[in-house]
Amino acid sequence: MSQAELPATDVTYITARMAQVVEDARACGFDVVDLSIGNPDLPPPEEALDALNAAVHAPGAHRYAPMESRGMPEFREAFAAWYRRRSSVSLDVETQVLAMLGAKEAAHLLCAALLVRGDSVVICEPAYGPYRSAAERCGARVHSLAGRAEMGFGAEPSQVPDDVLSRTRLVFLNFPNNPTGALATPGCFERWIDAARRHGFLLCNDFVYSEIYDDGPAPRSLLEIEGALDVAVELHSLSKTYNLCGWRLGVMLGQHDAIARVLALKRHVDAGPATVLQLAAARMLGQPLEAFLAAQRLTYSARRRLLSGGLQRAGYEVFPSRAGMFVWARTPGGQSAQAHLGDLIRRYGIACNPGTAYGSEYGSHVRFSLGVPEDRLDEAVRRLCAAL
Ligand SMILES: Cc1ncc(COP(=O)(O)O)c(C=O)c1O
Repeated sequence: MSQAELPATDVTYITARMAQVVEDARACGFDVVDLSIGNPDLPPPEEALDALNAAVHAPGAHRYAPMESRGMPEFREAFAAWYRRRSSVSLDVETQVLAMLGAKEAAHLLCAALLVRGDSVVICEPAYGPYRSAAERCGARVHSLAGRAEMGFGAEPSQVPDDVLSRTRLVFLNFPNNPTGALATPGCFERWIDAARRHGFLLCNDFVYSEIYDDGPAPRSLLEIEGALDVAVELHSLSKTYNLCGWRLGVMLGQHDAIARVLALKRHVDAGPATVLQLAAARMLGQPLEAFLAAQRLTYSARRRLLSGGLQRAGYEVFPSRAGMFVWARTPGGQSAQAHLGDLIRRYGIACNPGTAYGSEYGSHVRFSLGVPEDRLDEAVRRLCAAL
């Protein structure tokens, strides 16, 4: 690969770009309401902090973990038990559960372990940017499946030509979705599992927002579907569920061959997440945290209503989601996201992410984070609506 062919560097990574915009605006004296990054402001459960305190003094807590890159048995068992309780999925902790440094690393290593130059990867968009950058860094060809609001951002294998599916190695789904909050439409997972079986690709669902939803049934795990463990993996982490983004602790679960390939690569890359954090997480996950999760759901629901209502009054077309930690909206009058971002920061001191960070089709969309306190969301709404 020549220098000219190298993929774009991290300067273009959306979180870094927006952090710079916010920093520059603050340096100019703006009181910025930062609704760009999805970095939860809510505290982790007390149980996490107690578990961490206890883990600090556990034997071996500051050495390499016994299974190094695979992850500590306690941690893998605790996550597998969590899946069993939540989704009635039974996983073999030796072959179907791998500790990761978060779902972001997992998406990257999955691509690096499976893809060779020229492979095709299908990404159901709008989508979290690292799926595309990870695939492109391996020289894969990305086929975007652009979801539409009027179809509930449903993504169907029938939308992809058969000749593309037959040379596809990997498909990324993300339900509940970042940025839209869309849930998988009925039968969608089943149809993708069937297509994966027929065409021989691996299916990956990113499930990090599984516990953030308004009332109603909990979002389904892809691994609940019959046959999923033969053709699919799921990514999860403590980041959004327990407000522990900084622990960098996640898992890849499911199809054993994909897990084995990622592990083989990972052994050369890192020695697994911090031992002390795996011990703490294992202890925390073993406790009933339903009350914490239920309270958190109410908080996000209230924030979603507050911001969605305010944006609608200010002229945005808001996608009516009931999950995830973002609000996805079309700009007033369909203004370009880039121009709109500039207006928002200069006129209102508000930062959000451009839709183009989630797919090229979304040039007049923006994403607002709900990971900020209510008084700041109120302030954003007040500023936007004051001009009406
Ligand atoms: C869909 C999605 N997957 C993964 C991540 C990163 O998760 P983690 O902290 O587990 O790496 C994010 C973070 O914003 C996300 O939105």
